[in-house]
Amino acid sequence: MRTHFCGELRKNHIGQPVMVCGWVDSCRDLGGIIFLDIRDIQGVLQVVVDPELKEIFQIAQQLKNEFVIQVSGEIRARIRDQTNPHLSTGEVELYAQALSILNESAVPPFQLDEHFNVNEDLRLRYRYLDLRRPQMQQRLIVRSQVISLIRSFMEDNGFLEIETPTLTRSTPEGARDYLVPSRTYPGTFFALPQSPQIFKQLLMMSGLDRYYQIARCYRDEDLRHDRQPEFTQLDVEASFIEENDVLDLTERLLCNVFKRQLNVTLEKFPRLDYDSALRRYGTDKPDLRNPLELIDIDEIVQQSEFNVFAEAANDDTNRVAVLRVPACIDRFTRKQLDQMVEFVQKHGAKGLAYIKVNDAKNGRAGLQSSILKFLSDNELQLLLQQTTAQTGDILFIGAGLSETVSHFMGVLRNHVAHELDILEDEFRACWITDWPMFERTEDGSMAPMHHPFTRPKCGQRQFTDSPFTTKAFAYDVVINGYELGGGSLRIHDTDMQQAVFDVLGIGQEAQVKFGFLLDALRLGCPPHGGIALGIDRLIMLMTNTESIRDVIAFPKTTKASCLVTRAPTAADPSQLRDLGVFVRQDS
Ligand code: AMO
Repeated sequence: MRTHFCGELRKNHIGQPVMVCGWVDSCRDLGGIIFLDIRDIQGVLQVVVDPELKEIFQIAQQLKNEFVIQVSGEIRARIRDQTNPHLSTGEVELYAQALSILNESAVPPFQLDEHFNVNEDLRLRYRYLDLRRPQMQQRLIVRSQVISLIRSFMEDNGFLEIETPTLTRSTPEGARDYLVPSRTYPGTFFALPQSPQIFKQLLMMSGLDRYYQIARCYRDEDLRHDRQPEFTQLDVEASFIEENDVLDLTERLLCNVFKRQLNVTLEKFPRLDYDSALRRYGTDKPDLRNPLELIDIDEIVQQSEFNVFAEAANDDTNRVAVLRVPACIDRFTRKQLDQMVEFVQKHGAKGLAYIKVNDAKNGRAGLQSSILKFLSDNELQLLLQQTTAQTGDILFIGAGLSETVSHFMGVLRNHVAHELDILEDEFRACWITDWPMFERTEDGSMAPMHHPFTRPKCGQRQFTDSPFTTKAFAYDVVINGYELGGGSLRIHDTDMQQAVFDVLGIGQEAQVKFGFLLDALRLGCPPHGGIALGIDRLIMLMTNTESIRDVIAFPKTTKASCLVTRAPTAADPSQLRDLGVFVRQDS
């Protein structure tokens, strides 16, 4: 139906006959002559319809935006003052010699012009129209290209792509499951996989050595701008490897993909242990484009008369941390500083002290703060030294429970960097290693930081003696403050696996749920480990968008529904009967 794509025509096609197909992007009837813009996946081409060619001129007069047309004619140079440097085809136009309407279009519910601000629900409902926008198509093109680069990298490195089931049983990744009722076994359910975790481990036990999969995962959890209920992972597992092998492979993969897709050279990923990440950045997902760091001053204020600091400094579960923000005295008004205090209070802070450094060489007299009176000259001097404060800086100080202080000072660190626009304009990746095995949940119980198959960094006896202080062979890769991926070395020993289940208080239950895994561990399991990277998050980063929905063709809303198909929907009563499912009307 066509000889060329609209967007591929250039000066070197001048004089050639071509036939193109696409959508009417815009239509301008300038009295005597009609100019059309016709759009396809490769771009937009200007078509000129000459009134002398009466038959096609009449057809052109009926055209409206989004009509689907086919045009043939000759490529001509545009006259000089009509060239368009913003368009790849801007130096040429198609002089139409035949024009046919392949399909008409009703008036679209919103304009496709990308600068037109359209309500997201409307975009999601008519996603096929939204996806006609070049910017949206470009993201999906990048997605496809990146997945293709990933596949060739993994294959070059000896990995086999193996599919694992999506009708399976619950995988413990910390979210709720999507359940699928079984018709053949009434009253029982499959779970859609939260990840292929257990199967990829079983593949290692099968001797397949190196596995990868572009895997669809399902998690029923609260959605955010970087989370979807249905998302895609690059899932990887390998046998006879150590932590360093996984980190090195992943780093090479990401460097390769960024270089080949964006021509960006990623610097070597620094490795930070979990505790240092919290100490220095207040988070396990530090954005290293942000040059600011937290500095502990517990030792300086241990004897302080300022109780808020002294009490925290003398308690192991507390910390006193400073965020030194250089050269910002003139950048923040009093009102903005007050707003910052309110801002951190929303993130759990009881308060936030700050000291303005008007003159770093003038001791107490050079400083300005409501807490100066509580601090001795010596404490102030040490504070200036420890933070390497300079004239013009502001020192923000948080004290209290370590977890809380890290959290709100970390949030403040991000907030201030955005306000001051000091984020470096590049990609900065890092590894977070040495995670604790467990964390305490809101109800006080223990939960795995990653999942219960993660190998502790100690022998079984030590683990059983002090499980809560045990670190794990677990690692996350973080880019620009986003958790891009996570993985671990796995337990390959039945007793250790049972010990972890016991600590989690699911020893008995695990026999039922994961008995098959415990059996497999007994039957010659190699040491193994792996990682999974969020493909959607990777594409978000690479296409510089803030919403995960922008890089998924048909995403769910923040309430986990599909506005195109209106799923989820009520099931047909006969289907429910077959499945033995009874729906309570009040549910
Ligand atoms: P984890 O749960 O850390 O690890 O997931 C790995 C990566 O998957 C992405 N991700 C998501 N992306 C979009 N929406 C979501 N709801 C979502 N949840 C996770 C993130 C995350 O870093 N089985 C382990 C991996 C392993 O141990 O090998 C796992 O799934 O980018």
